[in-house]
Amino acid sequence: MRKHREGGKFFATMSNVRTGRRNYYNVFSYVYDAFINLHARRYAGDTRNFLVEMANQEEKSNPRILDICCGTGAVIAAFANRYPESVTVGYDFSRGMLGKARNKQESRKTIFIEGDAAFLPFADESFDIVTCSHALYELKGPTRQTALQEMKRVICSNGSVLLMEHEVPHHPLIKILFNIRMMTMGSADAIEFVKGGLVPFRRIFPDVSRYSSPTGKSKLIVCRKHGIIQEGETSKNKQ
Ligand SMILES: C[S@@+](CC[C@H](N)C(=O)[O-])C[C@H]1O[C@@H](n2cnc3c(N)ncnc32)[C@H](O)[C@@H]1O
Repeated sequence: MRKHREGGKFFATMSNVRTGRRNYYNVFSYVYDAFINLHARRYAGDTRNFLVEMANQEEKSNPRILDICCGTGAVIAAFANRYPESVTVGYDFSRGMLGKARNKQESRKTIFIEGDAAFLPFADESFDIVTCSHALYELKGPTRQTALQEMKRVICSNGSVLLMEHEVPHHPLIKILFNIRMMTMGSADAIEFVKGGLVPFRRIFPDVSRYSSPTGKSKLIVCRKHGIIQEGETSKNKQ
């Protein structure tokens, strides 16, 4: 584990995070799973399975996995099921969300850590897979960029950073609702970020690929530190 480089003590970094936002998520944590079940019941599992499949670490028996902004822990649980002997880490700044995640934790090898996405308390190259699902759009401008740099720092040289983000809906009514959600729940530039292409990722990572999820409701951005071509890279939905 690494303490925040500038602050000396790790917990000092949390004072930089807007407490209002964390409080919002602490309250939201009580209904978060019900909310997801209501509006994405049919798709949430498919999307998580797609993420696990695309992490493509079959040649590594126990990949080390970190899920940033893990929320109530659904993604890290899917990875823990797939790789039961792996150390899996869920990381989030909301104590409420982490509490819900711990309550449904099944693997002894999963740990949950409280902290800000912009300051990861891990040594360089600590993980084989780093994921962040449907959360980057919420991070304010500089925080998002710093979080991406931190992900690059903690991923090992042949590992992958997998970022799942919402796709802009086509249906006009759904699109209006989506934009309202982005404006109320996302950061000021969330709509621009979600619509935007791969530029924010290519500023940080030399190798960036974009895939559509099977449901078409999400997109997966796969980033690597060095331009490694992996087997299966050219499969299905690569764009
Ligand atoms: C929309 S939820 C997504 C949760 C989960 N990844 C999923 O796919 O269900 C966004 C999560 O990001 C967390 N979060 C937002 N900003 C954060 C930050 N700066 N640092 C750490 N976690 C953050 C929130 O607490 C929340 O759990």
